[in-house]
Amino acid sequence: MRLILHKLVLAFMLLWLWFSSFIHVDAADDSLKPGDTLNSSSQLYSKSRTYYLQLFNYLEISSVYDDTVVWVGNREQSVNQSTADLSLNFSGVLKIESESLKKPIILYSPPQPINNTVATLLDTGNFVLQHLHSNGTNTLLWQSFDYPFATLIPTMKLGVNHKTGHRWLLYTQLTYGSAAPGAFSLEWEPRGQELMIRRRGKVCWKSGKLRNNRFEHIPEEAQGVLKYSIVSNGDEDTFSFTSTNENITHFWSLSGTGRLSYNYEEGYVARADLCYGYNNTEGGCQRWQDIPKCRIPGDVFTKKSLRSNYQNVTFDNDKNISYSDCEAACWSDCNCNGFTEIYDDGSGCIFYQWNSSKDYIVDATVSGEDIYLLENKGNIIAHRHGTKRWIWISPVIATSLLILCASILCLAIKKRKHVLQEKKRKEMSLIEDFGNDLNKKHGLKVLDYTLVVAATNEFSSDNKLGQGGFGPVYKVWELWKDDKYFELVDPSLNEVFDHEEVQRCIHIGLLCVEHYANDRPTMSDIISILTSKSPIVSLPLKPAFYIQRYMYNENLSSLELCTGSTVEITSSTIEMTTST
Ligand SMILES: *[C@@H]1O[C@H](CO)[C@@H](O)[C@H](O)[C@H]1NC(C)=O
Ligand SMILES: *[C@@H]1O[C@H](CO)[C@@H](O)[C@H](O)[C@H]1NC(C)=O
Ligand SMILES: *[C@@H]1O[C@H](CO)[C@@H](O)[C@H](O)[C@H]1NC(C)=O
Ligand SMILES: *[C@@H]1O[C@H](CO)[C@@H](O)[C@H](O)[C@H]1NC(C)=O
Ligand SMILES: *[C@@H]1O[C@H](CO)[C@@H](O)[C@H](O)[C@H]1NC(C)=O
Ligand SMILES: *[C@@H]1O[C@H](CO)[C@@H](O)[C@H](O)[C@H]1NC(C)=O
Ligand SMILES: *[C@@H]1O[C@H](CO)[C@@H](O)[C@H](O)[C@H]1NC(C)=O
Ligand SMILES: *[C@@H]1O[C@H](CO)[C@@H](O)[C@H](O)[C@H]1NC(C)=O
Ligand SMILES: *[C@@H]1O[C@H](CO)[C@@H](O)[C@H](O)[C@H]1NC(C)=O
Ligand SMILES: *[C@@H]1O[C@H](CO)[C@@H](O)[C@H](O)[C@H]1NC(C)=O
Repeated sequence: MRLILHKLVLAFMLLWLWFSSFIHVDAADDSLKPGDTLNSSSQLYSKSRTYYLQLFNYLEISSVYDDTVVWVGNREQSVNQSTADLSLNFSGVLKIESESLKKPIILYSPPQPINNTVATLLDTGNFVLQHLHSNGTNTLLWQSFDYPFATLIPTMKLGVNHKTGHRWLLYTQLTYGSAAPGAFSLEWEPRGQELMIRRRGKVCWKSGKLRNNRFEHIPEEAQGVLKYSIVSNGDEDTFSFTSTNENITHFWSLSGTGRLSYNYEEGYVARADLCYGYNNTEGGCQRWQDIPKCRIPGDVFTKKSLRSNYQNVTFDNDKNISYSDCEAACWSDCNCNGFTEIYDDGSGCIFYQWNSSKDYIVDATVSGEDIYLLENKGNIIAHRHGTKRWIWISPVIATSLLILCASILCLAIKKRKHVLQEKKRKEMSLIEDFGNDLNKKHGLKVLDYTLVVAATNEFSSDNKLGQGGFGPVYKVWELWKDDKYFELVDPSLNEVFDHEEVQRCIHIGLLCVEHYANDRPTMSDIISILTSKSPIVSLPLKPAFYIQRYMYNENLSSLELCTGSTVEITSSTIEMTTST
């Protein structure tokens, strides 16, 4: 049986969106004519349905294939989706308006009013505004490809237009929650004829020269199906690619850590996240002059789960900085040994300072607090514990366990066939959608980026589990409490399921994320509950982080609050003893 992660309401909503896209937009499915508006109940689809455009908090173009957002129109300023619309008016002005905005976000405004225009989403994923002439020809007025987001898609250019001086480059998203430009950029460097990743202006990585359609520092598998197109003339110096196999979609996405991935994190094109400026320039990393004396080659940040005996914590609650800024700041400060983000969306920094490695315990089998710890590769002291193997599971991981284990366990009992049909990725994206949906509709906070990475790394390389991670738990608990747990069941089961069994699975899942370890069932308890029909004695309480996620707030001003909540989170780890 496939449990959940999918809400009936959501399904209906999507269906309705679908319908409304035909009802409300008085235009072809793929374009806006003057006078047309597009709001959150409608979408534009490109002619062959390869991409779609929609307006929620952001105006987004996404791939139909897997819903990856490839372009965002209003990066700097999100809007309130309940009142926002995109319109093309009779003056040829393409704009986003919302009650939450003082003035509209103008995507394009012609020097003189033009009344015969059309805005079309093309099959390449390019959203273009054209002037239609009476002789049947068109002129391009504006195109989304001129304002890249964090993803490079086939035929989209990087480089510079010498005529207008316009530069095309990708910028990472600042945080999970904000599309605003972050620290890393991907650029085409015309003089060297190579690709380059910068972090806040500083060059971290270079692709090396192109020979035989291959860049020196890009792995073969990442460029195997690509055909590069480099244009260098008086008009422009640009780079773009196409896929030689039309059936394989190929995108390059630049993440907030500086990693350039292809095809939804399947593999990497560049690992600027591993570049620290040391002399070792393997893989295209660049050397920097300003390396602090206290840092030596091999010093790198590694995500660790650790328990701390003593720590000195400082923080920077600037919401305009995120992961890589924290990393850079910690790396340049010789007192800093580790960092993590403050806010749920991954912004702000907490810096850790330990007097010595005796102040904390790191163990591969220990999962405590997730911190990016500065260590020297090859010089890591292994801490081992006695005969018992302890597995500490943080609430986040437990959350994922709740979701994954509950489905898996129920599956094992029912042996229904269709669960494994979909890829893991699809499930992850469902979880994410679920979270987004909750966030949009109920304003519920969703998961902290660092925690996301932690949770997903435990189970999958796909760190997109992310945003929604906590969402389902809030919701599950709420629904369970209101006796509406059946809403969690996949609608495709058409109500054909054993209510008691579903209730049992959800109940167990909730018990697994209890605040106090003593309240949580052991693995053997779980198995006995699942295999017997006897009623479950203990009732789940509200999940711990239901409240705790709000502990960090904007007015964060005292160290106590910071360390206090750290302790809170650490103390809510659970123990599972496995016999060795
Ligand atoms: C979108 O526009 C249509 C037609 O103008 C309107 O009926 C509908 O309520 C709008 N939806 C939202 C969410 O504003
Ligand atoms: C968005 O607008 C609606 C209706 O005006 C309002 O109820 C809601 O609080 C707004 N949401 C945000 C996040 O401002
Ligand atoms: C189109 O929008 C622009 C910008 O908001 C406005 O100045 C102009 O008057 C509008 N034109 C028409 C015909 O409504
Ligand atoms: C566009 O401009 C032409 C000529 O100025 C005018 O005849 C026509 O009515 C305008 N169309 C619209 C839809 O306003
Ligand atoms: C069509 O009309 C536009 C504007 O009137 C003009 O710039 C263009 O050269 C014309 N094209 C042809 C093929 O006549
Ligand atoms: C792409 O898929 C179609 C239909 O499955 C197939 O006919 C075609 O040969 C494929 N093209 C390539 C390059 O693999
Ligand atoms: C790195 O290279 C620079 C210049 O080549 C050299 O001066 C420096 O000593 C090197 N540092 C290390 C740690 O090898
Ligand atoms: C904490 O770190 C700051 C900055 O390095 C330092 O000034 C302060 O003395 C430290 N406090 C303790 C208690 O170690
Ligand atoms: C964050 O960035 C926004 C927009 O770039 C700016 O308005 C704001 O002042 C910045 N805030 C801080 C604390 O730097
Ligand atoms: C760490 O160093 C600070 C400052 O020197 C000192 O106050 C503190 O007691 C030390 N903590 C431990 C656990 O040694």
